Amino acid sequence: MKKIQVSPSILSADFSKLGDDIKRLEENGADMIHVDVMDGHFVPNLTIGPPVIKSLRKYTKLPFDVHLMIDPVHKYIKDYSDAGADIITFHPEATENITKTIDLIKSLNKKVGISLNPDTKIAAAKDHLDKIDLILIMSVYPGFGGQKFISDVVKKIRDLDQIRKERKLNFKIEIDGGINFETSKIAVEAGVDILVSGTTVFKENNGDLKKNIKTLKQI
Ligand code: DX5
Ligand code: ZN
Repeated sequence: MKKIQVSPSILSADFSKLGDDIKRLEENGADMIHVDVMDGHFVPNLTIGPPVIKSLRKYTKLPFDVHLMIDPVHKYIKDYSDAGADIITFHPEATENITKTIDLIKSLNKKVGISLNPDTKIAAAKDHLDKIDLILIMSVYPGFGGQKFISDVVKKIRDLDQIRKERKLNFKIEIDGGINFETSKIAVEAGVDILVSGTTVFKENNGDLKKNIKTLKQI
């Protein structure tokens, strides 16, 4: 059975004590920390930038899985890398040249991901699948936590998993949005390796992080 990883989204954490919450995530079984960066332009919400990420870096050794929902993205990549991102994921719509942005992230020795919105087709990433470390499938329209899982994306996961097998590629499939104890199973069954979760990890079972992360991993 394959090992499922959980990347809790700090969007649902307590912003007045992010450092403590990140430490607690590490102690309670998180595999990485999902950091949602929003610019109030590419998505209709505004969150955090490089100085906050930099100040959080000392609270954990876990990889920072940084999801950039900013446009234009290319000119800010180095700032996020310097701030301590380990995985840098961007949306193809937010760069003029996908290849250049991938190359830049790799030149900084970071892992690179491409994120596909619910209405963005695999075709947007197809030519880059041999060069990237992960595909982040959005199962909600990005911008806010706590939205409902869009089940139409399950076919996209299956198709990607199929392509990955046929072409013997190694990229991971990560899913983001509306993941709970039921939708996690559907996603993993379709081919997902990494589950992003904000609401479920922080709010279910009275915020019992250990139980929630463990339950998400149980497929
Ligand atoms: C949405 C973000 C997600 C979101 C997940 O724009 O990218 O990471 O916070 O939150 P839940 O798990 O609450 O759907
Ligand atoms: Zn995200």
